[in-house]
Amino acid sequence: MSSVSSSSPDLGSLKDELLSFIAAAPSLSALDDVRVSALGKKGRITDMMKTLGSLPPEERKAFGASLNVLKNDIAAALDARLKVLNAAALDARLINERIDVTLSPRPERAGRVHPTHQTIDEIISIFAGMGFSVAKGPDIESEYYNFEALNIPSSHPARDMQATFFLPSSGEHKTVLRTQTSPVQIRTMLKEKPPIRIIAPGRTYRCDYDQTHTPMFHLVEGLVIDEATHMGHLKGCVMDFLRAFFGIDDLPVRFRPSYFPFTEPSAEVDIGCSRKGGELKLGNFGDWLEVLGCGMVHPNVLRNCNIDPEKYQGFAFGMGIERLAMLKYGIPDLRTFFDADLRWLRHYGFLPLDIPNPALKG
Ligand code: DAH
Repeated sequence: MSSVSSSSPDLGSLKDELLSFIAAAPSLSALDDVRVSALGKKGRITDMMKTLGSLPPEERKAFGASLNVLKNDIAAALDARLKVLNAAALDARLINERIDVTLSPRPERAGRVHPTHQTIDEIISIFAGMGFSVAKGPDIESEYYNFEALNIPSSHPARDMQATFFLPSSGEHKTVLRTQTSPVQIRTMLKEKPPIRIIAPGRTYRCDYDQTHTPMFHLVEGLVIDEATHMGHLKGCVMDFLRAFFGIDDLPVRFRPSYFPFTEPSAEVDIGCSRKGGELKLGNFGDWLEVLGCGMVHPNVLRNCNIDPEKYQGFAFGMGIERLAMLKYGIPDLRTFFDADLRWLRHYGFLPLDIPNPALKG
């Protein structure tokens, strides 16, 4: 307790009064008002401090000491109350500003997965189930990997089917925007030793533009190299893939002899369909629709990659990703895939968490 002289104001009751104001201050600003009224420039304690000089010395000492004690007590009480009010303000903010993370996303805001990428994901998951891994190659490819190494010399008429974009090149190595994903076969075989089992989805480029052709589109390549791989493996693999992809267990699959420079023998593959009444339906209806090219890897291609064709053989296949997507999801025009029209994407796209995946079925 402070000792207060008889001639001084009653510091005890002032202290009680101030402490009760402090305890009752309901807010930070009310508390600050109390602080200013006591310790501010014109505050009650400050005013009393100013009177010290006019007191006789013997009183000044005792009263000064009591005033200091009072001032410190009030400052400490203000401080303690400030902490309480700050903590309460923080609690209130935490409650009011809480974010409810369980709120489900509003459907109109959800983005869509583009059908091309949806289809790539489906293809990858089916082939992953058969032990294939995914390989990649560059869009800008050397003319050698895109053509020569695949047994397509510069004079070969097969080059005409793949008119492409040649890039300005320095030196003897010409580069093109790749016309096919087949050069990834070369890159993989030069890098890895058999057994090889890869698929290579990616962008490809050709100078075409109509309802079923665009200058950029996606292909997926497949390559299997092993010691005892034969045409039966190729047929089984392609057939299983097509039936899983289209989700039709008894989908008819037909292999027709064909020609590709990098395979021998080569085949084109058709699936069963019906076109009656202008509507396309997949299944056992007697009509056929071409979906991919394939064959046994040509010995020249193996030799170009330092693989001994007497010891190793294998098969390859290539198919258009948008073409598969158009057939599966009933999209009539290839050009619309690349128009970046949000209305189209909302209609044909897929919700990221709602992806139908044939490979994960049952
Ligand atoms: N590269 C061919 C194309 O773009 C597709 C293809 C056919 C790839 C047969 C292959 C294959 O690997 O064996 O038209």
